Amino acid sequence: MEIKKDSSKIFRNIFLKDCYLEIEGEKLLDGSIRISGAKNSALVLMAASILSEGQVNLFNVPRISDVLIMSKILIAMGINIKSNSNQLKINTKEIIPPSQELLSDLFNALRVSFFCIGPILARFGKADIPLPGGCLIGSRPIDEHINSLKKLGVIFKFKDNYLSAEVITPHKRLVGSSITFKCKSVGATETLVMAASLAEGTTILNNAAQEPEIIDLANMLNLMGARIKGAGSERIKIEGVKTLKGCDYTVIPDRIEAGTFLIAAAITRSPISLFPCEPRHLKEVINKLEACGCKFEYSKQLLRIIPNQILNSVNMNTSPYPGFPTDLQAPFMALMATANGTSKIEETVFENRMNHVKELKRMGANITLRNNVATVIGVKNLHGTNVLGSDLRATAALALAGLSARGKTKVRGLEHLERGYEDFSNKLRKVGANILKKK
Ligand code: UD1
Repeated sequence: MEIKKDSSKIFRNIFLKDCYLEIEGEKLLDGSIRISGAKNSALVLMAASILSEGQVNLFNVPRISDVLIMSKILIAMGINIKSNSNQLKINTKEIIPPSQELLSDLFNALRVSFFCIGPILARFGKADIPLPGGCLIGSRPIDEHINSLKKLGVIFKFKDNYLSAEVITPHKRLVGSSITFKCKSVGATETLVMAASLAEGTTILNNAAQEPEIIDLANMLNLMGARIKGAGSERIKIEGVKTLKGCDYTVIPDRIEAGTFLIAAAITRSPISLFPCEPRHLKEVINKLEACGCKFEYSKQLLRIIPNQILNSVNMNTSPYPGFPTDLQAPFMALMATANGTSKIEETVFENRMNHVKELKRMGANITLRNNVATVIGVKNLHGTNVLGSDLRATAALALAGLSARGKTKVRGLEHLERGYEDFSNKLRKVGANILKKK
């Protein structure tokens, strides 16, 4: 199927605002859940395809609304995209520089759209783009992207919500440099890896983020002809090349989706299996779940979790990979709300990612919030009620709380949930959850 260039406002599925998940809690789960391709990999691999002069065939791409928006961004740049099930064929033969007007709504809808700035500058020497939107989880600055691109020879001008960037080197080609990031940023690391791949000379990135999605990006770019070493460590070396070709590439399994379903199993005290799954991407999550009283079995990409009937509270703080992922903080808090004892949960990555607390409290959770530290005293039962998710992972967390709650929970905020989870309610229903998407 060809994804069409159209002007309809499908950017954030507006009708999803009228939908909700209805969950009848306290049902035991049993069986196996298929894990989709990683959202955060797929989106950046799509951005990286801008660098290619041939066709990029991506496999295992999740069917989620963020992927649809990223497709629209690429299409607005003259790129042809055909999609079939979980496969995207991305052909850049007729690529053109993006126009501000076309991209405006699209960029506002999706923060990761900003990661296109690296590939756009590498291919066209300039970029006029809107500043990014996305989840409401803090101010999410872009200074690290900007300051490090400046080192590769880019100047920036800001006007209202727009940004004009131009490569000012003699040949309008980015030049390699040595960069030390002030903080570990997934997006800034990925932006620089992509930009430096087509730069003149060598770029060294120090204090780089180490997430598995960055390794996935480097693996795909290397298949396209890039020369990137050290992805997954704090120091990445990129020797720029003149052109990059197309390739076939399979996106890694989504560790955040897998973590969400592990917590679904734990919160319902039910054993379930996940496939395909990479437990080494989930080390810290598995450590915490083991500390609570869950057991794990693993063989050939199948991960099975077997929770104890009584789970104990543990403390947790989020941190960049390989630490506990901020994207699983809200789901983990839902679990701790039902555990035995008191847990302290600290959010250290984003300054405003605790919006789920007040909704969990409406379900009977005993949580006190001071700055970015939540003290969670486990209760015997949460109870079902109407709740509203304010961002992607907060909405997932409320659905998990609903699975364990006594009575009926209605979760709104599906326009957030469907940004990042493919078939969320169907997957849970298949393992026995009483969960329905309704309007
Ligand atoms: C990515 C993930 C997101 C995840 C986050 C942290 C994608 C598409 N999204 O987001 O799901 O929650 O990593 O694991 O991959 N920062 C700055 N200046 C910058 C950039 C970031 O100060 O220029 C700060 C942020 O405010 C934040 C921290 O760095 O406190 C981490 O953010 P970053 O890793 O950049 O998050 P994203 O790449 O946006």
